[in-house]
Amino acid sequence: MMMSDDAAFQARKVALITGITGQDGSYLTELLLSKGYTVHGIIRRSSSFNTGRISHLYVDGHENPKMILHYGDLTDTTNLVSIIAKIRPSEVYNLGAQSHVKVSFDMSEYTADVDGTGALRLLDAIRTVGLTHLTRFYQASTSELYGKVVETPQSEKTPFYPRSPYGVAKLYAYWIVVNYRESYGMKACNGILFNHESPRRGETFVTRKITQAVANIHLGRQKCLYLGNINAQRDWGHARDYVEGMWRMLQQEEPEDYVLATGETHTVRKFVEKAFRTLGVEIKWQGEAEEEAGVDAATGETRVRIDKQYYRPAEVELLLGDPSKARKNLGWERKVDFDSLVKEMVLGDLAAERAKPGTGSLNHMCQPRQTPTYVDQTSADDANISPSKVGLNAAIGATRFTMDQPYYRPAEGDLLPGSAGKAYKNFEWERKLEFKSLTKDLALAGLAGEIAGTRSENDYQPRQTTDFGDHVLRDDKRAHLISSVDEVKSS
Ligand code: NAP
Ligand code: GDD
Repeated sequence: MMMSDDAAFQARKVALITGITGQDGSYLTELLLSKGYTVHGIIRRSSSFNTGRISHLYVDGHENPKMILHYGDLTDTTNLVSIIAKIRPSEVYNLGAQSHVKVSFDMSEYTADVDGTGALRLLDAIRTVGLTHLTRFYQASTSELYGKVVETPQSEKTPFYPRSPYGVAKLYAYWIVVNYRESYGMKACNGILFNHESPRRGETFVTRKITQAVANIHLGRQKCLYLGNINAQRDWGHARDYVEGMWRMLQQEEPEDYVLATGETHTVRKFVEKAFRTLGVEIKWQGEAEEEAGVDAATGETRVRIDKQYYRPAEVELLLGDPSKARKNLGWERKVDFDSLVKEMVLGDLAAERAKPGTGSLNHMCQPRQTPTYVDQTSADDANISPSKVGLNAAIGATRFTMDQPYYRPAEGDLLPGSAGKAYKNFEWERKLEFKSLTKDLALAGLAGEIAGTRSENDYQPRQTTDFGDHVLRDDKRAHLISSVDEVKSS
Protein backbone atom coordinates (compact mmCIF):
# COMPACT_ATOMS: atom_id res chain seq x y z
CA MET A 1 0.00 0.00 0.00
CA MET A 2 1.24 3.49 -0.90
CA MET A 3 1.94 5.86 1.98
CA SER A 4 -0.05 9.09 1.99
CA ASP A 5 1.90 12.33 1.49
CA ASP A 6 1.37 13.08 5.16
CA ALA A 7 2.59 9.67 6.35
CA ALA A 8 5.64 9.81 4.11
CA PHE A 9 6.47 13.30 5.33
CA GLN A 10 6.07 12.25 8.98
CA ALA A 11 8.16 9.12 8.46
CA ARG A 12 11.19 11.34 7.75
CA LYS A 13 11.20 12.20 11.47
CA VAL A 14 12.77 15.63 11.17
CA ALA A 15 12.08 17.88 14.16
CA LEU A 16 12.82 21.56 14.69
CA ILE A 17 12.98 22.86 18.27
CA THR A 18 13.07 26.53 19.17
CA GLY A 19 14.39 26.92 22.72
CA ILE A 20 16.54 23.78 22.37
CA THR A 21 19.05 25.19 24.88
CA GLY A 22 16.40 25.52 27.60
CA GLN A 23 15.30 23.01 30.21
CA ASP A 24 12.52 21.47 28.11
CA GLY A 25 14.48 21.70 24.87
CA SER A 26 17.24 19.54 26.29
CA TYR A 27 14.90 16.79 27.54
CA LEU A 28 12.87 16.87 24.34
CA THR A 29 16.02 16.53 22.24
CA GLU A 30 17.05 13.47 24.23
CA LEU A 31 13.60 11.95 23.75
CA LEU A 32 13.44 12.62 20.01
CA LEU A 33 16.98 11.34 19.40
CA SER A 34 16.06 8.16 21.25
CA LYS A 35 13.12 7.78 18.87
CA GLY A 36 15.31 8.08 15.78
CA TYR A 37 14.58 11.72 14.86
CA THR A 38 17.02 14.13 13.35
CA VAL A 39 16.72 17.12 15.66
CA HIS A 40 17.38 20.64 14.45
CA GLY A 41 17.60 23.34 17.06
CA ILE A 42 17.64 27.11 16.93
CA ILE A 43 20.18 28.70 19.22
CA ARG A 44 20.73 32.36 19.91
CA ARG A 45 24.05 34.01 19.35
CA SER A 46 25.46 34.78 22.76
CA SER A 47 28.79 36.14 23.95
CA SER A 48 29.11 33.17 26.26
CA PHE A 49 28.08 29.58 25.75
CA ASN A 50 24.39 28.88 26.17
CA THR A 51 24.50 25.24 25.11
CA GLY A 52 25.43 23.66 28.46
CA ARG A 53 22.20 21.66 28.70
CA ILE A 54 22.70 19.96 25.34
CA SER A 55 26.47 19.69 25.15
CA HIS A 56 26.29 16.02 26.18
CA LEU A 57 24.29 15.37 22.98
CA TYR A 58 26.76 17.09 20.75
CA VAL A 59 28.43 15.01 18.08
CA ASP A 60 31.09 16.45 15.83
CA GLY A 61 29.50 17.76 12.64
CA HIS A 62 31.83 15.61 10.58
CA GLU A 63 30.47 12.40 12.08
CA ASN A 64 26.90 12.49 10.77
CA PRO A 65 25.27 14.20 13.73
CA LYS A 66 21.58 13.76 14.51
CA MET A 67 21.40 17.03 16.44
CA ILE A 68 22.07 20.04 14.25
CA LEU A 69 22.15 23.59 15.52
CA HIS A 70 21.29 26.77 13.62
CA TYR A 71 21.75 30.31 14.76
CA GLY A 72 18.43 32.11 14.86
CA ASP A 73 15.92 34.05 16.87
CA LEU A 74 12.15 34.15 17.16
CA THR A 75 12.30 37.86 16.37
CA ASP A 76 13.93 37.28 12.96
CA THR A 77 11.35 36.30 10.33
CA THR A 78 13.75 35.79 7.41
CA ASN A 79 15.95 33.58 9.49
CA LEU A 80 13.00 31.39 10.55
CA VAL A 81 11.77 31.07 6.96
CA SER A 82 15.19 30.12 5.68
CA ILE A 83 15.75 27.48 8.39
CA ILE A 84 12.34 25.90 7.80
CA ALA A 85 12.76 26.00 4.01
CA LYS A 86 16.11 24.26 4.36
CA ILE A 87 15.17 21.45 6.73
CA ARG A 88 11.42 20.99 5.96
CA PRO A 89 10.60 19.70 9.47
CA SER A 90 7.85 17.15 10.00
CA GLU A 91 7.40 18.48 13.56
CA VAL A 92 8.08 21.92 15.01
CA TYR A 93 8.20 22.44 18.77
CA ASN A 94 8.03 26.12 19.68
CA LEU A 95 9.62 26.16 23.13
CA GLY A 96 11.62 29.37 22.70
CA ALA A 97 10.49 32.15 25.01
CA GLN A 98 11.46 34.80 27.50
CA SER A 99 9.99 32.43 30.06
CA HIS A 100 10.46 34.27 33.36
CA VAL A 101 7.21 35.77 34.67
CA LYS A 102 8.84 38.37 36.92
CA VAL A 103 11.25 39.49 34.19
CA SER A 104 8.30 39.97 31.83
CA PHE A 105 7.19 42.94 33.95
CA ASP A 106 10.56 44.58 33.25
CA MET A 107 10.78 43.52 29.59
CA SER A 108 7.15 43.49 28.55
CA GLU A 109 7.56 44.60 24.94
CA TYR A 110 10.36 42.13 24.27
CA THR A 111 8.36 39.36 25.93
CA ALA A 112 5.37 40.17 23.72
CA ASP A 113 7.59 40.10 20.64
CA VAL A 114 9.27 36.77 21.39
CA ASP A 115 6.54 34.87 23.23
CA GLY A 116 3.53 36.22 21.32
CA THR A 117 4.56 37.39 17.87
CA GLY A 118 7.34 34.78 17.76
CA ALA A 119 4.74 32.01 17.55
CA LEU A 120 3.00 33.85 14.72
CA ARG A 121 6.28 34.24 12.82
CA LEU A 122 6.97 30.53 13.08
CA LEU A 123 3.48 29.54 11.92
CA ASP A 124 3.74 31.96 8.99
CA ALA A 125 7.18 30.63 8.12
CA ILE A 126 5.69 27.13 7.84
CA ARG A 127 2.95 28.45 5.56
CA THR A 128 5.36 30.54 3.51
CA VAL A 129 7.42 27.50 2.53
CA GLY A 130 4.31 25.50 1.59
CA LEU A 131 4.17 23.12 4.57
CA THR A 132 0.79 24.29 5.92
CA HIS A 133 -0.80 20.85 5.85
CA LEU A 134 2.29 18.78 6.48
CA THR A 135 4.29 20.15 9.39
CA ARG A 136 2.89 19.45 12.85
CA PHE A 137 3.27 22.30 15.31
CA TYR A 138 3.52 22.31 19.10
CA GLN A 139 3.11 25.58 21.01
CA ALA A 140 4.46 25.80 24.56
CA SER A 141 1.38 27.28 26.20
CA THR A 142 1.20 27.63 29.92
CA SER A 143 -0.89 27.43 33.07
CA GLU A 144 -0.01 31.14 33.50
CA LEU A 145 -2.91 31.68 31.08
CA TYR A 146 -5.25 30.87 33.99
CA GLY A 147 -3.58 33.51 36.18
CA LYS A 148 -6.23 34.75 38.55
CA VAL A 149 -8.01 31.45 38.33
CA VAL A 150 -11.77 31.39 37.82
CA GLU A 151 -12.12 27.71 38.73
CA THR A 152 -10.10 24.96 40.38
CA PRO A 153 -8.81 22.61 39.10
CA GLN A 154 -8.03 24.16 35.72
CA SER A 155 -8.75 22.21 32.55
CA GLU A 156 -8.80 22.88 28.79
CA LYS A 157 -12.24 24.42 29.28
CA THR A 158 -11.33 26.86 32.07
CA PRO A 159 -11.46 30.53 30.93
CA PHE A 160 -8.16 32.41 30.92
CA TYR A 161 -7.22 35.42 33.08
CA PRO A 162 -3.47 36.09 32.66
CA ARG A 163 -1.70 38.17 35.30
CA SER A 164 1.58 39.19 33.70
CA PRO A 165 2.98 40.46 30.40
CA TYR A 166 4.32 36.91 29.98
CA GLY A 167 0.83 35.44 30.46
CA VAL A 168 -0.71 37.96 28.08
CA ALA A 169 1.93 37.32 25.40
CA LYS A 170 1.36 33.58 25.73
CA LEU A 171 -2.38 34.20 25.43
CA TYR A 172 -1.81 35.73 22.00
CA ALA A 173 0.30 32.73 20.99
CA TYR A 174 -2.37 30.34 22.27
CA TRP A 175 -5.10 31.97 20.20
CA ILE A 176 -3.05 32.39 17.03
CA VAL A 177 -2.39 28.65 17.12
CA VAL A 178 -6.12 27.95 17.46
CA ASN A 179 -6.87 30.49 14.75
CA TYR A 180 -4.38 29.06 12.23
CA ARG A 181 -5.65 25.56 12.94
CA GLU A 182 -9.21 26.67 12.23
CA SER A 183 -8.38 29.07 9.38
CA TYR A 184 -5.81 27.09 7.40
CA GLY A 185 -6.18 23.54 8.69
CA MET A 186 -2.72 23.59 10.25
CA LYS A 187 -1.83 20.66 12.46
CA ALA A 188 -1.08 22.95 15.35
CA CYS A 189 -1.78 22.35 19.01
CA ASN A 190 -1.27 23.98 22.39
CA GLY A 191 0.20 22.13 25.33
CA ILE A 192 -1.07 23.99 28.38
CA LEU A 193 1.65 22.90 30.73
CA PHE A 194 1.71 23.46 34.46
CA ASN A 195 5.05 24.12 36.16
CA HIS A 196 7.64 21.46 35.50
CA GLU A 197 11.08 21.39 37.02
CA SER A 198 14.28 19.34 37.07
CA PRO A 199 17.95 19.64 37.93
CA ARG A 200 18.23 21.50 34.60
CA ARG A 201 15.71 24.16 35.60
CA GLY A 202 16.89 27.75 35.17
CA GLU A 203 18.51 28.99 38.37
CA THR A 204 16.17 31.95 38.90
CA PHE A 205 12.96 29.91 39.03
CA VAL A 206 11.90 29.33 42.57
CA THR A 207 12.43 25.56 42.82
CA ARG A 208 15.97 25.63 41.50
CA LYS A 209 16.79 28.75 43.49
CA ILE A 210 15.75 26.83 46.60
CA THR A 211 17.56 23.57 45.83
CA GLN A 212 20.75 25.36 44.89
CA ALA A 213 20.62 27.39 48.11
CA VAL A 214 19.98 24.28 50.21
CA ALA A 215 23.04 22.63 48.67
CA ASN A 216 25.21 25.71 49.20
CA ILE A 217 24.03 26.17 52.79
CA HIS A 218 24.84 22.50 53.42
CA LEU A 219 28.34 23.06 52.04
CA GLY A 220 28.81 26.18 54.14
CA ARG A 221 28.98 28.44 51.07
CA GLN A 222 25.75 30.36 51.72
CA LYS A 223 24.05 31.47 54.89
CA CYS A 224 20.53 32.44 53.96
CA LEU A 225 18.01 32.13 51.12
CA TYR A 226 15.88 35.18 50.23
CA LEU A 227 12.45 34.56 48.70
CA GLY A 228 9.27 36.43 47.77
CA ASN A 229 5.76 35.06 48.13
CA ILE A 230 6.20 31.67 49.82
CA ASN A 231 2.44 31.09 50.04
CA ALA A 232 1.99 30.79 46.26
CA GLN A 233 0.81 27.33 45.24
CA ARG A 234 1.99 25.47 42.16
CA ASP A 235 1.29 22.17 40.45
CA TRP A 236 4.89 20.98 40.01
CA GLY A 237 5.91 18.01 37.86
CA HIS A 238 9.13 16.74 36.29
CA ALA A 239 10.16 18.19 32.91
CA ARG A 240 11.15 14.78 31.52
CA ASP A 241 7.55 13.57 31.92
CA TYR A 242 6.20 16.70 30.26
CA VAL A 243 8.28 16.51 27.07
CA GLU A 244 6.92 12.99 26.58
CA GLY A 245 3.44 14.58 26.63
CA MET A 246 4.49 17.18 24.04
CA TRP A 247 5.62 14.45 21.66
CA ARG A 248 2.44 12.45 22.21
CA MET A 249 0.34 15.49 21.28
CA LEU A 250 2.03 15.69 17.89
CA GLN A 251 1.46 12.00 17.18
CA GLN A 252 -2.33 12.53 17.17
CA GLU A 253 -4.05 12.68 13.79
CA GLU A 254 -6.42 15.42 15.03
CA PRO A 255 -4.61 18.40 16.53
CA GLU A 256 -6.12 19.47 19.85
CA ASP A 257 -5.06 21.37 22.96
CA TYR A 258 -4.10 19.52 26.14
CA VAL A 259 -3.40 20.30 29.79
CA LEU A 260 -0.39 18.50 31.31
CA ALA A 261 -0.33 18.63 35.10
CA THR A 262 0.05 16.38 38.14
CA GLY A 263 -3.31 17.18 39.77
CA GLU A 264 -1.52 18.15 43.03
CA THR A 265 -0.60 21.56 44.35
CA HIS A 266 1.97 22.64 46.97
CA THR A 267 3.10 25.94 48.41
CA VAL A 268 6.57 27.36 47.88
CA ARG A 269 6.88 27.09 51.67
CA LYS A 270 6.31 23.32 51.45
CA PHE A 271 8.94 23.04 48.73
CA VAL A 272 11.43 24.84 51.00
CA GLU A 273 10.69 22.51 53.92
CA LYS A 274 11.07 19.36 51.83
CA ALA A 275 14.24 20.59 50.16
CA PHE A 276 15.97 21.28 53.50
CA ARG A 277 14.66 18.01 54.96
CA THR A 278 16.39 16.11 52.13
CA LEU A 279 19.70 17.13 53.73
CA GLY A 280 18.49 16.60 57.29
CA VAL A 281 17.48 20.16 58.20
CA GLU A 282 14.06 20.86 59.77
CA ILE A 283 12.80 24.37 59.05
CA LYS A 284 10.56 26.09 61.61
CA TRP A 285 8.76 29.28 60.60
CA GLN A 286 8.76 32.35 62.85
CA GLY A 287 7.24 35.82 62.45
CA GLU A 288 4.71 37.05 59.93
CA ALA A 289 4.47 38.51 56.44
CA GLU A 290 7.74 40.19 55.42
CA GLU A 291 9.22 39.50 58.86
CA GLU A 292 8.65 35.76 58.53
CA ALA A 293 11.80 33.65 58.62
CA GLY A 294 12.69 29.98 58.26
CA VAL A 295 14.94 28.81 61.06
CA ASP A 296 17.02 25.64 61.34
CA ALA A 297 15.23 23.91 64.24
CA ALA A 298 18.44 22.25 65.46
CA THR A 299 20.84 25.20 65.37
CA GLY A 300 18.52 28.21 65.52
CA GLU A 301 20.21 29.74 62.48
CA THR A 302 17.99 31.69 60.11
CA ARG A 303 18.07 30.02 56.72
CA VAL A 304 15.17 31.70 54.87
CA ARG A 305 14.10 35.33 54.82
CA ILE A 306 11.55 37.29 52.82
CA ASP A 307 12.73 39.94 50.39
CA LYS A 308 10.05 42.15 48.83
CA GLN A 309 12.04 42.55 45.61
CA TYR A 310 10.86 39.06 44.65
CA TYR A 311 7.18 39.98 44.92
CA ARG A 312 5.41 40.48 41.60
CA PRO A 313 3.22 43.43 40.64
CA ALA A 314 0.40 40.90 40.18
CA GLU A 315 0.65 37.37 41.52
CA VAL A 316 -0.76 34.03 40.43
CA GLU A 317 -1.68 32.59 43.83
CA LEU A 318 -2.87 29.10 42.97
CA LEU A 319 -2.41 26.68 40.09
CA LEU A 320 -3.81 23.15 40.04
CA GLY A 321 -4.29 21.32 36.78
CA ASP A 322 -6.69 18.63 35.66
CA PRO A 323 -4.82 16.31 33.26
CA SER A 324 -7.80 13.97 32.58
CA LYS A 325 -7.97 14.68 28.84
CA ALA A 326 -4.28 13.93 28.33
CA ARG A 327 -4.64 10.76 30.37
CA LYS A 328 -7.61 9.63 28.29
CA ASN A 329 -6.50 10.62 24.77
CA LEU A 330 -2.73 10.43 25.01
CA GLY A 331 -2.29 7.79 27.72
CA TRP A 332 -0.05 10.38 29.41
CA GLU A 333 0.61 10.34 33.14
CA ARG A 334 3.36 11.92 35.20
CA LYS A 335 5.83 9.36 36.52
CA VAL A 336 7.81 11.46 39.02
CA ASP A 337 5.96 12.55 42.17
CA PHE A 338 6.58 15.72 44.19
CA ASP A 339 8.85 14.16 46.84
CA SER A 340 11.05 12.47 44.24
CA LEU A 341 11.27 15.70 42.24
CA VAL A 342 12.47 17.72 45.24
CA LYS A 343 14.96 15.04 46.22
CA GLU A 344 16.39 14.71 42.70
CA MET A 345 16.86 18.47 42.44
CA VAL A 346 18.52 18.86 45.85
CA LEU A 347 20.88 15.93 45.31
CA GLY A 348 21.60 17.13 41.78
CA ASP A 349 22.58 20.55 43.08
CA LEU A 350 24.63 19.10 45.89
CA ALA A 351 26.64 17.03 43.42
CA ALA A 352 26.99 19.98 41.03
CA GLU A 353 28.10 22.40 43.73
CA ARG A 354 30.59 19.90 45.10
CA ALA A 355 32.05 19.41 41.64
CA LYS A 356 32.59 23.12 41.10
CA PRO A 357 36.27 23.87 40.93
CA GLY A 358 37.85 25.91 43.67
CA THR A 359 39.39 29.24 42.96
CA GLY A 360 43.00 29.69 41.89
CA SER A 361 44.80 29.26 38.63
CA LEU A 362 45.46 25.86 37.21
CA ASN A 363 47.87 27.23 34.68
CA HIS A 364 50.88 25.90 36.52
CA MET A 365 49.56 22.37 35.97
CA CYS A 366 49.25 22.88 32.28
CA GLN A 367 52.72 23.47 30.94
CA PRO A 368 53.01 21.41 27.78
CA ARG A 369 55.99 19.04 27.91
CA GLN A 370 56.67 19.44 24.24
CA THR A 371 55.52 22.23 21.96
CA PRO A 372 53.84 20.77 18.89
CA THR A 373 54.39 22.56 15.62
CA TYR A 374 51.77 22.64 12.92
CA VAL A 375 52.61 22.29 9.27
CA ASP A 376 50.55 22.58 6.13
CA GLN A 377 50.24 19.32 4.28
CA THR A 378 49.33 20.89 0.97
CA SER A 379 50.95 23.61 -1.00
CA ALA A 380 47.77 25.37 -2.01
CA ASP A 381 47.89 28.91 -3.29
CA ASP A 382 48.47 31.27 -0.40
CA ALA A 383 45.59 33.50 -1.46
CA ASN A 384 43.04 30.69 -1.12
CA ILE A 385 42.21 28.88 2.05
CA SER A 386 41.97 25.33 0.92
CA PRO A 387 39.38 23.02 2.50
CA SER A 388 41.83 20.17 2.10
CA LYS A 389 44.44 21.69 4.32
CA VAL A 390 45.24 19.94 7.56
CA GLY A 391 47.57 20.68 10.42
CA LEU A 392 49.76 17.90 11.74
CA ASN A 393 51.44 17.53 15.07
CA ALA A 394 54.95 17.30 13.65
CA ALA A 395 56.22 15.17 16.51
CA ILE A 396 53.70 12.34 16.25
CA GLY A 397 52.13 12.92 12.83
CA ALA A 398 48.56 13.13 14.13
CA THR A 399 46.15 15.44 12.34
CA ARG A 400 45.17 18.18 14.78
CA PHE A 401 43.07 20.49 12.65
CA THR A 402 41.49 20.62 9.24
CA MET A 403 40.08 23.49 7.27
CA ASP A 404 36.34 23.13 6.97
CA GLN A 405 33.91 24.79 4.57
CA PRO A 406 31.02 25.46 7.03
CA TYR A 407 33.20 27.93 8.89
CA TYR A 408 33.96 30.05 5.84
CA ARG A 409 32.05 33.27 5.48
CA PRO A 410 30.06 34.25 2.40
CA ALA A 411 32.45 37.17 2.08
CA GLU A 412 35.69 37.69 3.93
CA GLY A 413 37.35 40.96 4.87
CA ASP A 414 40.80 41.74 3.48
CA LEU A 415 43.63 40.61 5.71
CA LEU A 416 45.24 44.00 6.02
CA PRO A 417 47.49 44.74 8.95
CA GLY A 418 46.08 47.27 11.40
CA SER A 419 48.25 50.33 11.60
CA ALA A 420 49.09 51.22 15.17
CA GLY A 421 51.58 53.85 14.06
CA LYS A 422 49.39 56.88 14.87
CA ALA A 423 48.42 55.61 18.33
CA TYR A 424 52.07 54.95 19.09
CA LYS A 425 53.17 58.33 17.83
CA ASN A 426 50.43 60.35 19.58
CA PHE A 427 50.14 58.65 22.96
CA GLU A 428 52.75 55.91 22.89
CA TRP A 429 50.23 53.09 22.88
CA GLU A 430 51.57 49.73 21.99
CA ARG A 431 50.33 46.24 22.54
CA LYS A 432 51.95 44.44 25.45
CA LEU A 433 51.20 40.86 24.55
CA GLU A 434 52.78 39.60 21.39
CA PHE A 435 51.06 37.05 19.19
CA LYS A 436 53.05 34.08 20.45
CA SER A 437 52.24 34.86 24.10
CA LEU A 438 48.59 35.47 23.27
CA THR A 439 48.12 32.09 21.61
CA LYS A 440 50.00 30.36 24.41
CA ASP A 441 47.83 32.06 27.04
CA LEU A 442 44.66 31.02 25.23
CA ALA A 443 45.81 27.45 24.81
CA LEU A 444 46.75 27.15 28.47
CA ALA A 445 43.50 28.72 29.60
CA GLY A 446 41.61 26.23 27.43
CA LEU A 447 43.56 23.35 28.91
CA ALA A 448 42.96 24.65 32.44
CA GLY A 449 39.25 24.88 31.64
CA GLU A 450 39.21 21.28 30.47
CA ILE A 451 41.00 20.09 33.59
CA ALA A 452 38.61 22.09 35.74
CA GLY A 453 35.67 20.36 34.10
CA THR A 454 34.46 23.03 31.69
CA ARG A 455 34.54 22.44 27.98
CA SER A 456 36.52 24.06 25.27
CA GLU A 457 35.02 26.36 22.69
CA ASN A 458 35.17 23.71 19.99
CA ASP A 459 32.72 21.49 21.82
CA TYR A 460 30.06 24.08 21.35
CA GLN A 461 30.48 25.28 17.81
CA PRO A 462 27.24 24.73 15.95
CA ARG A 463 27.94 22.47 13.01
CA GLN A 464 26.36 22.19 9.63
CA THR A 465 25.38 25.80 9.42
CA THR A 466 26.58 27.30 6.21
CA ASP A 467 26.41 30.96 6.86
CA PHE A 468 27.67 31.27 10.37
CA GLY A 469 30.40 29.92 12.59
CA ASP A 470 34.00 30.69 13.11
CA HIS A 471 36.27 31.20 10.22
CA VAL A 472 39.59 29.45 10.46
CA LEU A 473 42.28 32.02 10.09
CA ARG A 474 45.50 30.44 9.13
CA ASP A 475 48.45 30.91 11.38
CA ASP A 476 50.72 31.99 8.56
CA LYS A 477 48.27 34.79 7.72
CA ARG A 478 48.08 35.84 11.36
CA ALA A 479 51.86 35.83 11.55
CA HIS A 480 51.99 37.97 8.46
CA LEU A 481 49.52 40.35 10.04
CA ILE A 482 51.51 40.69 13.23
CA SER A 483 54.85 41.15 11.53
CA SER A 484 53.29 43.82 9.35
CA VAL A 485 52.11 45.68 12.44
CA ASP A 486 55.59 45.41 13.86
CA GLU A 487 57.01 46.86 10.69
CA VAL A 488 54.62 49.80 10.83
CA LYS A 489 55.50 50.44 14.44
CA SER A 490 59.20 50.41 13.93
CA SER A 491 59.02 52.61 10.83
P1 NAP B 1 13.77 28.05 29.49
O1 NAP B 1 14.62 27.05 30.19
O2 NAP B 1 13.73 29.45 29.97
O3 NAP B 1 14.21 28.04 27.95
C1 NAP B 1 13.76 29.02 27.05
C2 NAP B 1 14.43 28.80 25.72
O4 NAP B 1 14.01 29.81 24.81
C3 NAP B 1 15.97 28.89 25.77
O5 NAP B 1 16.51 27.96 24.88
C4 NAP B 1 16.22 30.30 25.28
O6 NAP B 1 17.50 30.47 24.71
C5 NAP B 1 15.16 30.38 24.20
N1 NAP B 1 14.87 31.75 23.79
C6 NAP B 1 14.70 32.84 24.56
N2 NAP B 1 14.47 33.93 23.81
C7 NAP B 1 14.52 33.51 22.52
C8 NAP B 1 14.41 34.18 21.28
N3 NAP B 1 14.22 35.49 21.20
N4 NAP B 1 14.51 33.45 20.15
C9 NAP B 1 14.74 32.11 20.21
N5 NAP B 1 14.87 31.44 21.36
C10 NAP B 1 14.77 32.13 22.51
O7 NAP B 1 12.26 27.55 29.44
P2 NAP B 1 11.67 26.07 29.67
O8 NAP B 1 11.37 25.91 31.12
O9 NAP B 1 12.51 25.09 28.97
O10 NAP B 1 10.25 26.24 28.96
C11 NAP B 1 10.11 25.94 27.57
C12 NAP B 1 8.86 26.64 27.06
O11 NAP B 1 7.73 26.19 27.77
C13 NAP B 1 8.86 28.15 27.20
O12 NAP B 1 8.17 28.68 26.10
C14 NAP B 1 8.04 28.40 28.47
O13 NAP B 1 7.44 29.67 28.42
C15 NAP B 1 7.04 27.28 28.36
N6 NAP B 1 6.51 26.77 29.64
C16 NAP B 1 7.36 26.35 30.61
C17 NAP B 1 6.85 25.80 31.77
C18 NAP B 1 7.76 25.31 32.87
O14 NAP B 1 7.27 25.12 33.97
N7 NAP B 1 9.02 25.08 32.60
C19 NAP B 1 5.46 25.66 31.93
C20 NAP B 1 4.64 26.09 30.90
C21 NAP B 1 5.17 26.61 29.74
P3 NAP B 1 18.78 30.85 25.64
O15 NAP B 1 19.24 29.55 26.24
O16 NAP B 1 19.72 31.44 24.68
O17 NAP B 1 18.28 31.82 26.69
N1 GDD C 1 11.29 33.04 40.72
C1 GDD C 1 10.98 33.23 42.01
N2 GDD C 1 11.94 33.68 42.85
N3 GDD C 1 9.73 32.97 42.42
C2 GDD C 1 9.46 33.14 43.73
C3 GDD C 1 10.41 33.58 44.66
C4 GDD C 1 11.71 33.87 44.20
O1 GDD C 1 12.59 34.27 44.94
N4 GDD C 1 9.82 33.61 45.87
C5 GDD C 1 8.56 33.22 45.72
N5 GDD C 1 8.33 32.94 44.43
C6 GDD C 1 7.04 32.52 43.87
C7 GDD C 1 6.58 33.34 42.67
O2 GDD C 1 6.00 34.57 43.10
C8 GDD C 1 5.57 32.38 42.05
O3 GDD C 1 4.33 32.52 42.69
C9 GDD C 1 6.15 31.01 42.38
O4 GDD C 1 7.16 31.21 43.37
C10 GDD C 1 6.76 30.29 41.19
O5 GDD C 1 7.64 31.19 40.55
P1 GDD C 1 8.62 30.69 39.37
O6 GDD C 1 9.38 29.52 39.81
O7 GDD C 1 9.36 31.89 38.91
O8 GDD C 1 7.61 30.16 38.25
P2 GDD C 1 6.25 30.75 37.68
O9 GDD C 1 5.14 29.90 38.20
O10 GDD C 1 6.14 32.20 37.87
O11 GDD C 1 6.43 30.51 36.12
C11 GDD C 1 6.92 29.25 35.64
O12 GDD C 1 5.84 28.39 35.39
C12 GDD C 1 4.93 28.81 34.36
C13 GDD C 1 3.83 27.76 34.26
O13 GDD C 1 2.87 27.98 35.24
C14 GDD C 1 7.71 29.53 34.36
O14 GDD C 1 8.36 28.36 33.97
C15 GDD C 1 6.82 29.98 33.23
O15 GDD C 1 7.58 30.06 32.02
C16 GDD C 1 5.69 28.95 33.07
O16 GDD C 1 4.84 29.32 32.01
